[in-house]
Amino acid sequence: MIGIFDSGSGGLTVLKEIRQRLPGADVVYFGDIKNAPYGVKSPEELIALTAAAIELLKSRGATHIVSACNSVSAALAVSNAPTDMIEMIEPTVAAFKQSPAKILLMATPATINAEIYQNAFKAIGIGIETLAIPELAGAIEFGQSEADIEKIISDALAKVDCSSFDTLVLGCTHYPFARAAFQKVLPETTIVDPAIAVAEKVASSFAEEGGGSTAFLISKDSEPFRNRVQSLFGATTDMIAVLK
Ligand code: DGL
Repeated sequence: MIGIFDSGSGGLTVLKEIRQRLPGADVVYFGDIKNAPYGVKSPEELIALTAAAIELLKSRGATHIVSACNSVSAALAVSNAPTDMIEMIEPTVAAFKQSPAKILLMATPATINAEIYQNAFKAIGIGIETLAIPELAGAIEFGQSEADIEKIISDALAKVDCSSFDTLVLGCTHYPFARAAFQKVLPETTIVDPAIAVAEKVASSFAEEGGGSTAFLISKDSEPFRNRVQSLFGATTDMIAVLK
């Protein structure tokens, strides 16, 4: 069984891509909404939350883990992460090998400050620009209006020279929910959702075991989460369990 975790809804964008490639795999998904957003937390807090999320998924039968959260990537090296685990950054960066793209990476402060993306791109000879948006993941998670989300994005981009990049990498799994707003603010920019490269790696690395079931666990009830599950997977709400 594949176990997937994130701070909340963001990982659903990754699960959606995995589902298209592995329709028959059993999946258990954990969204840690009680502790969301992760991207403004300290490395120590993220290490503890990552270890707890992996333990929870394993206790529910997960044999393979997908970290669908960029913000915890630095924590994976020092938590109890199993070796049969796939995280966001390595597959995303690998997909850009030999690419001439001029990249802006937008992500949470935890992801940008950990410098894992910068170092991984550097290792394949690509320099990138980065921009942290502290408020965006929480605004998406807790269902702020499209107008608010567009304003957060355009205010953040006012700090950078938009002629210096042609490709935007969505370095937070929540951001694909705001893809239309990003494209509106940056109409000429190519937007890359890392979920595709990650799902391809999952499909080529993990066996399609089970009968295609999906169980959702959340640490706090959330209407926006329930609505997203419904619209992405058509799932009935009894597939969502709120942890006590
Ligand atoms: N979706 C996660 C990420 O990719 C976490 C965002 C957050 O909770 O701040 O970074």
